[in-house]
Amino acid sequence: MAKERIVTRTATPGESAVEGAAATRAVRASDAYIAEIRPKRLQEYIGQKELVERLRIAITAAKKRGDAMEHVLLHGPPGLGKTTIAHVIAEEMGSRAFVTSGPALTKAGDLVGTLTKMHANDVLFIDEIHRLPAAVEEYIYPAMEDRRIDFTLDSGMHAKVVTLNLEPFTMIGATTRAGLLTNALRSRFGIAHHLEFYNEADLQRILQRATGILSMTGVDADALAAIACRSRGTPRIAIRLLRRVRDYAQVMGTGHCTAESVMKALALEGVDALGLDELDRKYLRVIAQTYGGGPVGLEAIAATLADDAATLEDAIEPYLLQLGFLARTRQGRCLTKSACEYLGVEFKSESLLGGS
Ligand code: ADE
Repeated sequence: MAKERIVTRTATPGESAVEGAAATRAVRASDAYIAEIRPKRLQEYIGQKELVERLRIAITAAKKRGDAMEHVLLHGPPGLGKTTIAHVIAEEMGSRAFVTSGPALTKAGDLVGTLTKMHANDVLFIDEIHRLPAAVEEYIYPAMEDRRIDFTLDSGMHAKVVTLNLEPFTMIGATTRAGLLTNALRSRFGIAHHLEFYNEADLQRILQRATGILSMTGVDADALAAIACRSRGTPRIAIRLLRRVRDYAQVMGTGHCTAESVMKALALEGVDALGLDELDRKYLRVIAQTYGGGPVGLEAIAATLADDAATLEDAIEPYLLQLGFLARTRQGRCLTKSACEYLGVEFKSESLLGGS
């Protein structure tokens, strides 16, 4: 059955990002405090040096050409600044960021609604892009490549393909699971970058900057160092801990943020000297006590903890791997010797770790 191409038009510039499609938010209200602390410009961005340099070049080149910036795929553990980078790119381009997520875009209409509201050089940030339904993903390919959406009206012999031309835009896809993306989608991003955990010096600088924005006074440098080394390489965690320490110092102390108030406040939060919290410790203890140190499959650990396997894989395991506490072998997850020392349990055998 032949499909008739009947109409081509340029999408009308729509309302502001705040009034975007229901599935799209310009800002998360509950993240208002993060928005206030987030760097707005590349120059203010601390850490991720290589990415910042790549973006600086791509943004400058796009502005010189008077075009939208390349599509960018960001992957890595949660809390490392993927959303922040999308907002920074929009700010640098003098445009707006529309924020949505793979699971929120349940049907093609959600995507079309947002794309047709966007002005030239706006940014569309899709979080958890690996969870985009296949039926929506199909519409993304021509949108990214040819700035065009084709959709079919009616069916059978009356079917018509309607083409909407889009303004130049930048898609920023974020994922904790780059491996789950189809090759077709991955290959349409001009820039793909893996975000690394931040080192302690960068986290300390991020915390220092945040104390200014939060109007905190009487903050000792060694207090910030103590928070930084308990933040699991993650700015989002560092800022959250800073706020807990601020509350603690205000209510229980003199209002001054000292290394001592950090220790006390974080002990109350269940965060130890390595930055591990109760869920991390439960995860490690399940492998040690229920599964004899491993190897054990992720699903079995998740079932024992009554938690979600994807959450453990995305939010708990990356830092334990980075710490060298966990090994992922072909047979399953195993505790390392240092994890056993940390838990004060006997380390069974090096040979278990041989098969990764
Ligand atoms: N606040 C949170 N993350 C930041 C970063 N990478 N640079 C500066 N400030 C931040």
